[in-house]
Amino acid sequence: MSSKEKRRRVGILGTGDFARALAKRLFFSGYDVILGSRKPEKKAIYAMDQCLCNVQVLSIEECIKSASIIFLAVHFDNVKELLTEHVVKLEGKIIIDVSNRERPSSVTSNAELVQKMVPGCIVVKAFNVISAYAMENDYNSSSKQVFIASNSENARDVVANIAKDMNFRPVDFGGLFAARRIEKHPLRLFSEWKGPLGFAVCVFIVWLIFLIYIYYIVESVYKWEQLFVKVLNKAFCMTGITTLSVTYLASSFATMVQIYYGTKHIRFSRWLDKWLKNRKQLGLLSFALISIHVIMSVLTMSPTYLSSWYHSTTVTIPANLTVPLQLKQTTWMNWKGEAACLVGIIAYVVLSFICATTFPSVTDTLNWREWRFAQSKMGHAALLLSVGHVLVMGIPGWLSKPHLIYKSITFLCLIIPWITLLVKLVFSFPLVDRYVMKLRKGWERREKNCTADCARPVTNEVYASFDMNAGKRKACTDACTCPDDPMPMMNFGSSISIIASGKGQLENIHSL
Ligand SMILES: Cc1cc2nc3c(=O)[nH]c(=O)nc-3n(C[C@H](O)[C@H](O)[C@H](O)COP(=O)(O)OP(=O)(O)OC[C@H]3O[C@@H](n4cnc5c(N)ncnc54)[C@H](O)[C@@H]3O)c2cc1C
Ligand SMILES: NC(=O)c1ccc[n+]([C@@H]2O[C@H](COP(=O)([O-])OP(=O)(O)OC[C@H]3O[C@@H](n4cnc5c(N)ncnc54)[C@H](OP(=O)(O)O)[C@@H]3O)[C@@H](O)[C@H]2O)c1
Ligand code: HEM
Repeated sequence: MSSKEKRRRVGILGTGDFARALAKRLFFSGYDVILGSRKPEKKAIYAMDQCLCNVQVLSIEECIKSASIIFLAVHFDNVKELLTEHVVKLEGKIIIDVSNRERPSSVTSNAELVQKMVPGCIVVKAFNVISAYAMENDYNSSSKQVFIASNSENARDVVANIAKDMNFRPVDFGGLFAARRIEKHPLRLFSEWKGPLGFAVCVFIVWLIFLIYIYYIVESVYKWEQLFVKVLNKAFCMTGITTLSVTYLASSFATMVQIYYGTKHIRFSRWLDKWLKNRKQLGLLSFALISIHVIMSVLTMSPTYLSSWYHSTTVTIPANLTVPLQLKQTTWMNWKGEAACLVGIIAYVVLSFICATTFPSVTDTLNWREWRFAQSKMGHAALLLSVGHVLVMGIPGWLSKPHLIYKSITFLCLIIPWITLLVKLVFSFPLVDRYVMKLRKGWERREKNCTADCARPVTNEVYASFDMNAGKRKACTDACTCPDDPMPMMNFGSSISIIASGKGQLENIHSL
């Protein structure tokens, strides 16, 4: 066997679901794979999958002997029993721990425990975030990240190259300590969606209660049987437009904070930081809510449901009628219905385009400027068009009954969108815009008694300060001295801001 072939040989301990998927993927990525089993004679794996006919199944000992890179594809509970008698033979080898924990534990990671069990080997934590299914079936996975942690830089490089060969995107997390974070990752259950979802549900409930109050309690405008589509449709679209405007209000708050402190070197308070980071989820939720509204509206698009959008027809039947009379009733939309439809449809198409840019296959083709144009400029355009759609419906009513405007749902649901657009407009004025751009390029407005919460902790606890959950930020002794520091915080701040913007799931530890 040539040295090149030897270099590409890898061993896998275990013959379970993950081991077989890994073996198949590695084999098709050009590796010579050997599986190690407690009972190799009983494991006819090629009978399970013909693609594995070139993969040998040997004993645990032979597998360890024949490869210098070994994947540990057994459940963590069985690792100790499996490795105890092979500790010496594993010396100097790279062991890739793919195990996942059953529940999050803040104490230590499986990978660190494996390193303690076999101190002579180099443990690398990797591949645990990829499911056996994705490993086996999803070959078009270049956007799938593989988080890698090990105390050996060389071992991290070796595993990163294997991940690349397998068409995954390796992300270097540094030392094995980071395995604690990596192991928590697969245990998350839509954690980044909880806040935005909670917000949308609360807004929906508030609007629904308000609608029931005005349409059923104050006046009997609708029948209860109309609650499911006619009334809920209003609650969906009002929540949709509120969530959409809240998505775009966040950056204006960030700008206001920066203007107030006269520097970009400040750490945002936790709520603002969370808000900025949740914009993607808020935007996608608003898109989902508006999609429900569009479907419901199209289904009920008729003069019966939307009398104010259609011309009314009046048929007078003569009192002295003696012969059969055939009446053909046709009616069409009035200007209000047509205009509201047109603006609404354009707004929805723009939103759909923004949504499409978040698909990894599309995101990867966009450069930074295109992404910003799609997300920021088109996002505000979609919000403006949405406001136009509601204005067309609302203005005739507001003009005819101006004293009741505060009760109009079209008026009330536009308050936050207006604030969002007006603040954005103010920040777009050349004078303000120039000032903000100056701040963002690093210029500082020094003030004698500056009390800004410094972005960078005075101690070395930089990493601890990144733990957004920790909530124990330290303020600098004198915040105003920070900008002169050789390592200004914006180095980190900008990385946070990039993550918040979500573009190009960057190979950055903060994406966890
Ligand atoms: C359907 C849909 C899908 C969406 N998908 C995504 C998505 O995938 N990813 C995503 O991020 N958003 C997504 N959004 C939300 C939104 O489109 C983007 O966040 C958009 O970039 C916001 O634009 P903006 O002009 O308000 O803010 P930005 O363009 O982000 O910011 C404007 C300015 O505010 C300041 N600022 C903003 N954030 C920070 C920060 N964290 N730190 C310091 N300064 C800051 C910056 O100086 C920046 O120049 C989506 C929205 C919708 C409707
Ligand atoms: N399945 C996934 O999608 C997935 C995704 C990411 C990570 N992982 C991780 O990958 C590891 C393996 O998962 P899996 O789904 O492949 O599990 P599995 O199907 O149950 O396979 C485990 C394998 O471990 C071997 N093993 C060694 N000692 C053992 C013992 N004492 N008792 C039982 N089995 C023993 C067995 O192979 P032999 O009988 O041949 O010895 C068995 O086939 C786990 O740590 C898991 O967290 C799995
Ligand atoms: C981004 C896109 C859209 C947003 C944000 C949006 C939002 C809204 C809002 C806030 C209302 C006011 C609720 C009310 O006064 O009853 C409304 C009403 C309405 N919209 Fe949209 N809409 C959008 C797109 C569309 C589209 C594409 C259509 C269909 C062609 C549509 C059809 C309607 C109808 C029929 C109503 C009146 C509902 C009623 O009176 O019960 N909308 N929309």
